[in-house]
Amino acid sequence: MTDLASVSGAPHTAILGIGSYRAGRLVPNADIVEAIDSSDEWIQQRSGIKTRRFAEPHETVQLMSVESARVAIERAGIDPAQVDGVIVATISHMLQTPAVATAVAHELGLERPVAFDISAACAGFCHGLALASDMVRAGSAKYVVVIGVERLSDITDSHDRGSAFIFSDGAGAVVVGPSERAGIGPVVWGSDGEQFDLIRQREDWRDVVASDSPQMPHLVMQGNAVFRWAAFEMAKVAHATLDRTGITVDDLDVFVPHQANMRIIDAMARAMKLPERVTIARDVADQGNSSAASVPLALDRLVQEGQAKSGDTALLIAFGAGLAYAAQVVTVP
Ligand code: COA
Repeated sequence: MTDLASVSGAPHTAILGIGSYRAGRLVPNADIVEAIDSSDEWIQQRSGIKTRRFAEPHETVQLMSVESARVAIERAGIDPAQVDGVIVATISHMLQTPAVATAVAHELGLERPVAFDISAACAGFCHGLALASDMVRAGSAKYVVVIGVERLSDITDSHDRGSAFIFSDGAGAVVVGPSERAGIGPVVWGSDGEQFDLIRQREDWRDVVASDSPQMPHLVMQGNAVFRWAAFEMAKVAHATLDRTGITVDDLDVFVPHQANMRIIDAMARAMKLPERVTIARDVADQGNSSAASVPLALDRLVQEGQAKSGDTALLIAFGAGLAYAAQVVTVP
């Protein structure tokens, strides 16, 4: 048997820079209630959402990815030529192939990085972050841009009472690279395929094509079941993540859960017994649920508004269709 070379990379990794892009159209509850026979009051009470962001026609998945990544690279203080990896987490890029990551890398002027998309729905960004960190530690890349991006307005049924008020559009990006200290902790991630149907694309593309009046397939969700799973199971995942990282809730400064629903965020914080002083991201109120983009959008907002500062310890946790989840503790860049 021939011995093969074995390579390794940096002992530690960190988020070196973060950027985000909010879709341009601010849509208040008042604009969507008629189609779903709902009210501003009901939506705010059940979800905490007051407004959401929908993309303008020119704000494509690619455009929002590029804009957020450009800012992240600039803030990381590295030369774009140093970026040798691009991972895009999305479920709303409408070309099945090729991966939008290659086009994003090209538009950013990067020098032929490894570039691919991943599909883990709302948990996609935290999956990408874990992959990027492992790639840098394994020596298969040095600086990796991770982007979470969605244009869910394209695949949201504006007449579906169970989901029309929830979803939104935007992008968030980070640069992951080598670091002297561990700035990205071990990931806790997994899936529960038994609950595959709880949040899903309603129709298979082949059924769409075969239909007499083809329509864009839409997302559908069994809201009650998703709520129970997220509020209770994800608090356990959060605790497991702290345990694996070797810290407790008392060491946390910031909590950035997936921005699905304000009641889920509150239920998780209660179940985790988060100390009062921990800053909790509540971007969902203004942005809605932007799936893979929600965690980096919310974290960047806390940083830009001075509610999270460089060096803070933040727990990220994301969960959604699959059901899939991923969580890790990071140092705020
Ligand atoms: N507007 C007004 N009333 C509505 C409504 C709407 N959009 N949707 C449902 N209702 C009504 C129902 O008809 C029902 O009325 P009834 O009690 O007279 O029968 C009542 O509200 C409760 O319906 P239910 O479906 O049980 O609502 P809910 O309390 O579960 O809330 C969600 C619905 C979607 C807000 C909630 O399930 C939820 O937030 N789930 C998690 C969703 C989520 O975050 N998903 C993303 C994960 S990635």
